[in-house]
Amino acid sequence: MLRVKLSILSIFCGLFLFSSCRQDMADQPAYRPLQQSDFFADGQASRPLIQGTVARGQLRDDTHLYTGKKDGQLVTTFPFVVDKEVVKRGQERFNIYCAPCHGQTGAGNGMIVQRGFKKAASYYDDEVRKKPIGHYFDVITNGYGAMAGYSAQVNVRDRWAIISYVKALQESQPGSANPLPIETITDFTPSGLVDPKKQTSPSGTSSKLESKAQEKSESGGH
Ligand code: HEC
Repeated sequence: MLRVKLSILSIFCGLFLFSSCRQDMADQPAYRPLQQSDFFADGQASRPLIQGTVARGQLRDDTHLYTGKKDGQLVTTFPFVVDKEVVKRGQERFNIYCAPCHGQTGAGNGMIVQRGFKKAASYYDDEVRKKPIGHYFDVITNGYGAMAGYSAQVNVRDRWAIISYVKALQESQPGSANPLPIETITDFTPSGLVDPKKQTSPSGTSSKLESKAQEKSESGGH
């Protein structure tokens, strides 16, 4: 009997001892994201990124591609070769993101406008036509007047693809010498807009666009 009592006692002692000495392992002094800390002068536990840090796949040194500007000037050329596939991709994206306001022909009378939104610009206005394509990139990226920016929804290459389609619309619809029926627009490639230095670049096909789209979680950035 005594032996049983002793062994029960020793089990309790053991449980008590173990529970008291393992607690530190469970509660490590780690910080949770955004937690406060007295250790650093700025009061934050998380350290800021070292200046110039670039996350993998996020290097944006091609200002032509990512900002539509070169040496501070709006560009007048595309950053990659615009072929039929690119214009097609642009048409698809345009009909999703732009046509609700600008209309499928780009005349500025889409359904949202018909329901009372401020009239969207017509791409056939001389003022709009004349603007360099870098301006279009800027409008899609950052918004313009009543129009919000689309950088969150449309990735960088798709923005250029949309511009190629808008240019195709402009060059082929009323106001131009030879208007084309809208369903044939993707047979048409805007002329004289591609940077000759980039002519040889293999990028710019729609499969490339798609793989870029998957690769990125870029949409948040500009
Ligand atoms: C919610 C409606 C809406 C959507 C969607 C929209 N826009 Fe606009 N857009 C406008 C309005 C409104 C204006 C005129 C802005 C102003 O003058 O305040 C405008 C103006 C423009 C202009 C003319 C800028 C200038 O220089 O005058 C361009 C180019 C343009 N939009 C392109 C696009 C493209 C490309 C898309 C698709 C990615 C798009 N917009 C989607 C409403 C829209």
